[in-house]
Amino acid sequence: MKAQNLEELEALRIKYLSKKGEITSLFSDFRNVPNEQKREIGQLLNELKTAAADRLQEMKEVFEAQKADAEKLDLTRTPDPIPMGTRHPLSLVREEIVDIFSHIGFTVAEGPEVEDDKHVYGMLNFAPEHPARDMQDTFFIEKEVGVQKPTDVLLRSHTSSVQTRVMTSQKPPIRVLCPGRVYRNEAISARAHCFFHQVEGLYIDKDVSFADLRQVLLYFAREMFGADTKIRLRPSYFPFTEPSAEMDISCNICGGTGCSFCKGTGWVEILGCGMVDPNVLESCGIDSKEYTGFAFGMGVERITNLKYRVKDLRLFSENDIRFLQQFESC
Ligand code: DAH
Repeated sequence: MKAQNLEELEALRIKYLSKKGEITSLFSDFRNVPNEQKREIGQLLNELKTAAADRLQEMKEVFEAQKADAEKLDLTRTPDPIPMGTRHPLSLVREEIVDIFSHIGFTVAEGPEVEDDKHVYGMLNFAPEHPARDMQDTFFIEKEVGVQKPTDVLLRSHTSSVQTRVMTSQKPPIRVLCPGRVYRNEAISARAHCFFHQVEGLYIDKDVSFADLRQVLLYFAREMFGADTKIRLRPSYFPFTEPSAEMDISCNICGGTGCSFCKGTGWVEILGCGMVDPNVLESCGIDSKEYTGFAFGMGVERITNLKYRVKDLRLFSENDIRFLQQFESC
């Protein structure tokens, strides 16, 4: 038997050298040795005992040294140098947007990315034949792999679907911000991607007006892009808002004097907005005679592009460490 550690060594000591050990018991048989052999046998016995004791001691020292080394080793230590992790620019910007709106009472609501037609289009006042439902724009989920049957399960193409989820599950006053990923059937290029991120806002209460919408968006633009930022609202159309508008901010790159980024206009578009259409309120079970509200939706990639000048959308999802490392100190 070969001892592997201090415990096994002690077992060996007991087996051979303890009071009833095998070597010790040889000494009790010593009296039976004939007198003329006592001297020689006695010497051999002593040599055996000393050799065993010495070997045990030697092994004990080796094991004790090993144990001390093992205790010095800190197995919880991480290997160094520890590289500094970085935050993804889209997460940084999303959090900044959420933070800005949280100061004026908006809380975060989330909804599913795999949605149904009703929540993404139907309840948002999209006509049944609206082109957004087209296979060109929306990813529909096939119920059976490879079988393209008409289906109403799809990947949400905008975060406005979370509006319908919130309105059907909460009572006004409602003041929510809905950040999330959305999907569109687009060919991937520097300017378009099949998935991107939006932040939706929704505010419903008694007597909410377009002036409230304008003031909230002005507050946001100044917090996000600086106190000198100007905004302008241009009439637009969305099925779920009436009236609808698109909002531009004064170009934060040239300060509004005109540059290649704003194509010389001094303005850049950042979001769509409007007063929630009464049809939408009603389809979500909210009395449109009692309540009014506004909504807005913005692309996180667009805001990130303006803040950090990221021109190629593909950089956001390629996980290229050289791109991501630039956000180390953020
Ligand atoms: N859902 C729109 C889109 O994806 C963005 C949008 C526009 C959201 C106007 C809104 C809004 O809430 O009021 O293009």
